[in-house]
Amino acid sequence: MIRGRAVTLRPVEERDHPLIHQWQNQPEVWWWMDYERPFSLQDIAESEERSRAEGHPFIIEAEGRPVGKIGLNQFRRRDRICSLYIYIGEPGAWGKGYGKDAIMTMLSYAFDRLDLHMVELWSLAPNERALRAYRACGFAVDATLRERSFKDGGFVDRVIMSVTREEFDRTRLQRNDSQV
Ligand SMILES: CC(C)(COP(=O)(O)OP(=O)(O)OC[C@H]1O[C@@H](n2cnc3c(N)ncnc32)[C@H](O)[C@@H]1OP(=O)(O)O)[C@@H](O)C(=O)NCCC(=O)NCCS
Repeated sequence: MIRGRAVTLRPVEERDHPLIHQWQNQPEVWWWMDYERPFSLQDIAESEERSRAEGHPFIIEAEGRPVGKIGLNQFRRRDRICSLYIYIGEPGAWGKGYGKDAIMTMLSYAFDRLDLHMVELWSLAPNERALRAYRACGFAVDATLRERSFKDGGFVDRVIMSVTREEFDRTRLQRNDSQV
């Protein structure tokens, strides 16, 4: 269990699968996560097993209940880099700071405990809420990949973002100073 300011990250358990199933099929979460097709409960069981084998998946808890999922995957050991993914499962819980807190907490784990050099991620370019949350945690845009996702009859750009350990340390200091 890893404690942030307002959120706690804890390991995913089998009893979370129905909730993860509900979250990942929630239309807005599904759209922004850029999933390709709806999930069955069996899909969730299989993808959670893969996530555990290949990375570090966590349930985000806030106000004493599960609100979303965050994790690290795609580790490249030589380069000390991995990818980060996150969603808050209910749109009603968006914009309350849980995302930023979970990302900062996950990055502390990545840099302090796993001794990584860099964490990267990708997002749909129009996902302004996500991009603001990532920027607030120290991520910067590396590149825009043009027309990488076909959504609702048109192509949408993706962005690749990354944060180094030094950039994260600076962001953490600033956030501690301003207590935001
Ligand atoms: C992206 C996501 C994880 C962010 O978590 P969150 O708890 O909603 O985000 P936070 O409240 O911590 O921070 C949101 C930031 O966006 C801003 N914001 C809030 N509503 C916004 C809106 N409608 N448009 C643009 N920015 C918005 C906030 O002010 C904050 O930015 P700031 O730090 O500069 O003030 C969450 O919204 C989510 O799960 N969305 C759906 C799935 C998704 O997009 N996952 C990421 C895929 S890359």
